[in-house]
Amino acid sequence: MSTQNIKISATAAANTTTTSATTPLTVGIDRISFATPHYYLNLEELAEHRGIDPNKFTIGIGQSEQSVPPNHQDIVTLAAQAAFPLLPYIDSNRLKMLIVGTESGVDASKSSALYVQNLLKLTPWVRSIEVKEACYGGTAALMMACDYVRAHAEKNPQVLVIAADIARYGLATPGEVTQGAGAVAMLVSANPHVLKINDDSVVKSADIQDFWRPVYQDTALARGKFSTEQYIQFFCEVWQKYCAQNDCNFSDFAGLCFHLPYTKMGLKALKAAMDSCANSCSDSCDNSNLSESSRNRLLSRYETSTKYSRRVGNIYTGSLYLGLLSLLELDEFTCENSDLTALKSGDKIGLFSYGSGAVGEFFSGTIAPGFRDALFAREHADMLDSRVHLSVADYEEMFESVAPYAPEDFESSTSCREGASFFLDDITSQERHYSAR
Ligand code: HMG
Repeated sequence: MSTQNIKISATAAANTTTTSATTPLTVGIDRISFATPHYYLNLEELAEHRGIDPNKFTIGIGQSEQSVPPNHQDIVTLAAQAAFPLLPYIDSNRLKMLIVGTESGVDASKSSALYVQNLLKLTPWVRSIEVKEACYGGTAALMMACDYVRAHAEKNPQVLVIAADIARYGLATPGEVTQGAGAVAMLVSANPHVLKINDDSVVKSADIQDFWRPVYQDTALARGKFSTEQYIQFFCEVWQKYCAQNDCNFSDFAGLCFHLPYTKMGLKALKAAMDSCANSCSDSCDNSNLSESSRNRLLSRYETSTKYSRRVGNIYTGSLYLGLLSLLELDEFTCENSDLTALKSGDKIGLFSYGSGAVGEFFSGTIAPGFRDALFAREHADMLDSRVHLSVADYEEMFESVAPYAPEDFESSTSCREGASFFLDDITSQERHYSAR
């Protein structure tokens, strides 16, 4: 990606507007961009290779492709790649925090945000930290960012939030079909151009053992079926409480986005809430009044929100926001072939974040005026469409060539570098060295 490809808008300069004491402060996502590796695996080919009916992967799980990172890409380089297009919108005097949400961090001590800050040549006068709670880390970072901007409104600060992960379960494991890699970068400020984040969330945390990754290995361990049950239960519980607390129901939302470990997962939770939760809802949560049109609208928009993830796979902390991007960037085209009116300013989007272990949070966002002009839809479509197809054998080789979780020196491959601007070059004497194109 070259700097010529970065969309620079006049609004970047206009973004320095300070908030008046008389107008209510709106805080949220001002710009949002994502990055994924330049290589992908076709999951029908993987299914055939593993002796599995391809329909299980494409229909039962709901995944068609999976991004595969070459060994010079880790969460640091993916995070930098995702944030790179946001640089023209960052004001060094206003940027106060850089938060990386990840569960595939490269060091148990040092924050990956520091490497990203260096690669992007960001101001040193910034708080650079990493946040972890499985796939919920990106949402924790976003909420911290919004709270910071609200608390320091008079200084009109910006916070850069990046959710970056590489989901690895291992070759020929049940989780293999749900692997993926990528990062979503969000610039958070007052008067956002994409999505206002409403201060209405309901969050539930409980110590459960559905999915985890011990520090000595780079592949996750999962109680697969149990994790899907917990995801659904967490959604139903936070959804009911959210409706009761905010006096609303399904009809108040133009669309709902979910954390997407695989695209069937959110659908299971949404249908469970639509079909079953209604019976156990409190009176204030009037889901029993779910109209046919609301049901169809939410199911149709759910489908739109899954299109990117179906091609990328699980990117853990970034998955919910990849779903949001898919919805915002593709909705207009989907609506051309349906009865739905395209999303517009003021529409409310519900977001469900789930991180194993586990934390579940439901909150809402309100679409900002002119949001389409602030998106990088064309760039994202090009990024996905230009990816290079890998054979199963090439995927397996790439998968196994990753920097080992061991003290030995490592040198990354100098091939397969197209489509990337930031690289892990080597690990020497247990220190990582990165470079930019
Ligand atoms: P599995 O045991 O291989 O799959 O593991 P299955 O036997 O449960 O089948 C999956 C679906 O395919 C089923 O549909 C089958 O009926 C269907 P369902 O009943 O679920 O609707 N199926 C077929 N459909 C069409 N044609 C066929 C066919 N055969 C079967 N021929 C599992 C699946 C997801 C458990 C596994 O991939 C796994 O363990 N994945 C990792 C864990 C995971 O993703 N959990 C999701 C919830 S937890 C979460 O979201 C957090 C997470 O992102 C991590 C974090 O927070 O950091 C994971």
